[in-house]
Amino acid sequence: MPGTATKVIVTGGAGYIGSHTVVELFHAGYEPIIVDNFVNAEKSSIKGIETILGAKVKLYEGDSGNKEFMERVIAQERGISGIIHFAAYKAVGESVNQPLKYYRNNLDSLLTLMELMKEHHIPHIVFSSSCTVYGQPDTLPVTEKSPKKPAESPYGNTKQICEEILEDTVNSGVPIKVIALRYFNPIGAHPSAEIGELPLGVPNNLVPFVTQTAAGIREKLTVFGDDYDTHDGTCLRDYIHVVDLAKAHVSALQYLGSKSEENSYDVFNIGTGQGSTVLDVINTFEEVNNIKLNYSIGARRAGDVEKVYADVSHANVELRWKTELSLADALKDAWKWQLSLKKN
Ligand code: NAD
Ligand code: UD1
Repeated sequence: MPGTATKVIVTGGAGYIGSHTVVELFHAGYEPIIVDNFVNAEKSSIKGIETILGAKVKLYEGDSGNKEFMERVIAQERGISGIIHFAAYKAVGESVNQPLKYYRNNLDSLLTLMELMKEHHIPHIVFSSSCTVYGQPDTLPVTEKSPKKPAESPYGNTKQICEEILEDTVNSGVPIKVIALRYFNPIGAHPSAEIGELPLGVPNNLVPFVTQTAAGIREKLTVFGDDYDTHDGTCLRDYIHVVDLAKAHVSALQYLGSKSEENSYDVFNIGTGQGSTVLDVINTFEEVNNIKLNYSIGARRAGDVEKVYADVSHANVELRWKTELSLADALKDAWKWQLSLKKN
């Protein structure tokens, strides 16, 4: 649809989830416009996106919290219909040591976008929230109605505050439609291995640590505790393939476009609905990639949630979205991505 595609600003579109979402938006006929300041991304991700698409994508390099800069983007790109807002800092541990950096970036960028949406009549926004808002839930699986728990970190708190900013703005009567997607644990990479996650330094998250250990970059993986109340004693999470997660954003925009109200706030869990333990992940990784992983059981990690997985029926029904890829697919694609990095 050259020239007629619906324009969507994707803040943080060069990052891990954003880059995969840009690809899916393009495939669905949208025109994604990336805004990224590359604080946690490499220019190579834009090249990867363009290789997959066989087309150029629009990129504005700058801070999505900078109002003057964003005014220029909006003026240049007339007729923006929506925003998908990924841009944020996301390292939990760093947020404990540098809370102001996290509050400044994660809150400023949302506040700026909300003001601009109001002033320029941009009707739709999809926001990246997290299952971290549930903490350790009292009952499983968690639904969107499960209570939020006090945040364990400044990072988690920014997600809770951002959800409140969005909801309060809708409640004040501003004519915008908002969706907050609460992601469970995104893993994997695009099957082409052109884009994926680029963790800086030693990864905190499980799957990048697994692939780096398999690649010989890390000597050994430590499993953080095996005395939890799960089938094998290790923590349980809902791991979702990043491509499935990316597609949820397309479904969210389509849902907003089809809603007749001009003012609404919806929240959706985005996971698989299945829980997998750390040992399930390790065993599946070894099996599908035919690799032996060097790992041992260690102490629990402070602050870890024992088990959490999503009830995704709300997204299945309302967004008409469901996952198509398995844990095995995600771990195969994560490994393929790791191998592609080694070559570069
Ligand atoms: P990422 O760090 O790979 O991507 C974020 C992108 O935003 C990066 O490209 C970074 O350069 C950019 N960015 C940050 N601040 C910016 C600013 N002020 N202006 C412009 N660009 C800026 O992270 P991700 O894993 O893709 O996460 C995307 C979103 O999803 C984040 O909001 C994150 O908190 C949320 N989230 C991620 C996970 C996860 O496990 N990856 C889980 C739940 C929620
Ligand atoms: C972490 C964050 C959470 C954030 C999420 C996605 C904490 C306490 N929580 O969640 O706020 O939303 O990442 O970015 O940091 N594991 C090991 N060995 C490792 C690494 C991880 O056993 O080397 C285990 C962990 O104990 C956990 C599981 O693997 O049980 C998944 O860990 P991780 O990928 O860090 O995600 P979360 O703990 O869910």
